[in-house]
Amino acid sequence: MCGIVGYIGHRDAYPIIIKGLERLEYRGYDSAGIVLFDGKDTNLAKTKGKVEDLKNKSNTTISIDGKLGLGHTRWATHGVPNDVNSHPHYSNSGDLVIIHNGIIENYESIKKALIKRGYVFHSDTDTEVLVNLIEEVKKQEGVKLGKAVQIALNQVVGAYAIAVFDKNKSDEIVVARLGSPLAIGIGENEYFIASDASPFIEFTNNAVYLEDEEMAIVRLGKEIKLRKIKDDAIAYPNILELQMNLEEIEKGGYDHFMLKEIYEQPRAILDTYRGRLLADQGLIKMAGIDQNLEKFLNANRIIIVACGTSWHAGLVAEYIFEDLARIPVEVEYASEFRYRNPVITENDVLIAISQSGETADTLAAIKMAKERGAFVFGVCNVVGSSIARETDAGAYTHAGPEIGVASTKAFTTQITVLTLIALKLAKEKGSISESKYHEFLVELEGIPAKVEKTLASNALLEDIAEVYKDSSNCLYLGRGYNFPVALEGALKLKEISYIHAEGYPAAEMKHGPIALIDEEMPVVVIATRRGHYEKVVSNIQEIKSRSGKIIAVVTEGDVQVTELADHVVEVPETSEPLTPLLTTIPLQLLSYHIALMRGCNVDQPRNLAKSVTVE
Ligand code: F6R
Repeated sequence: MCGIVGYIGHRDAYPIIIKGLERLEYRGYDSAGIVLFDGKDTNLAKTKGKVEDLKNKSNTTISIDGKLGLGHTRWATHGVPNDVNSHPHYSNSGDLVIIHNGIIENYESIKKALIKRGYVFHSDTDTEVLVNLIEEVKKQEGVKLGKAVQIALNQVVGAYAIAVFDKNKSDEIVVARLGSPLAIGIGENEYFIASDASPFIEFTNNAVYLEDEEMAIVRLGKEIKLRKIKDDAIAYPNILELQMNLEEIEKGGYDHFMLKEIYEQPRAILDTYRGRLLADQGLIKMAGIDQNLEKFLNANRIIIVACGTSWHAGLVAEYIFEDLARIPVEVEYASEFRYRNPVITENDVLIAISQSGETADTLAAIKMAKERGAFVFGVCNVVGSSIARETDAGAYTHAGPEIGVASTKAFTTQITVLTLIALKLAKEKGSISESKYHEFLVELEGIPAKVEKTLASNALLEDIAEVYKDSSNCLYLGRGYNFPVALEGALKLKEISYIHAEGYPAAEMKHGPIALIDEEMPVVVIATRRGHYEKVVSNIQEIKSRSGKIIAVVTEGDVQVTELADHVVEVPETSEPLTPLLTTIPLQLLSYHIALMRGCNVDQPRNLAKSVTVE
């Protein structure tokens, strides 16, 4: 969480930093700040609130044209969101300035020691402690900034992506990372620093992603030099050519990123299987699986770890893997798995699912599984992300940047990748008949068109949203493949509209949640024809006889549920394992419209951040 951005070069840093912060705002948005340096003076503006507030504030506080600048958009960890706790932070002398994404866990003991040496602290943050520790080391050891940063970082415990400069050295910024992402964009005699590449994509396609425990001195006129923080060993920068383009990170005529990303799903799913699903040849080609086929085929079990929406995709995958490939699967919250001393053997395959590829708990679960000998496979969206690099092999979802904080296209593309893997393994194992396998390939190939058709129910969902926008609670029910979709629908509603929502397996309703049902309670039921239909119809009867309001997602042409439900949204027919790719869409749209009607910030819901790099 938190977005950091920096610039050093020949252009005015202010517009680059502000635009960069706007693009990184998905990472945290409770406060923001910027510092500019013109080689002589610095100007600082910081404020509680969004980058828009920062722009207003900097109109009065920034009066210089700095060619060096740092900016920060915050998701508070230590210290409430207010002006003082916002970054950047100065050291006591005023010479050093820092921005930081992460947590310094041992900051209290360092702070006490620094206070004893006469340091004064103005904020409650761990970051102000770090910049003063660097200053103290620099003074005590008589070293330059780069060395001081290195020594200081060897004394801290925690996670960080930092950028720091010294007012006495106007041509360099020192950066370092451990556990939080940091990219350096390389231009013509200019450098960009950011949590991801979006702030500098219109200036350069060349970037270096720092590895964990690496630091760099970014100096004008010099090539980037990477060093290991622990032992000073030189590391060689791997300069990547970025594929991202500007269009992908802008709203493209939509009011919100979330809506754009919902509508992108037909294209995103197609991009996910493009070149992998060759239905006419009866083939699924996935390098990460092809090269490690034996590992998967000989696996005792597959353990899936993830958080949030990605965890829901993992649950869908559990059904698909077990149903089609007959491989036992366990799905774990990464945050629980990493701390519960699980039994992991060399014959286990662990699949980590993450849109951002930066989720701290998922990353920690991967590291633990690797230490215990498991083969680790990643399903990530962000190319070059920490999880993509940490895993033994993997498959990207190729959904394109997902900027709305509520995950949408990441979910359906994760399911697409996992379905391809399950089908491939099923074919290799012979656990699926040739004809069934071919049917699946053809059906999966047709899913983008069916998603497109499902999106046509947008206006209907807007009408339904109007009816339920003032509800205080909502229940989501589904069975089998659509139970995880119920969980995902409930998560989407609560995170962006702040309406309390619960997802349940439909049959579990009678073991408790049924007590909640009255005429005020909307119940969203996924009742597609190919999924325990008759059983779900019985569950709907139970809701109806208690006067609950039923919003049903049904298969085109449905009669039975349509007669019972208050509102019906149709999705095209497809084979049961693929239904989540369609039934999810109306639930995303319903949440979007309800949140909008309630005046909520759809793309940046309160208290959340897109990339959860703290545990
Ligand atoms: C919900 C949402 C979160 C993420 C979760 C994991 O809409 O976006 O629940 O799914 O924080 O993030 P990733 O997939 O980046 O690991």
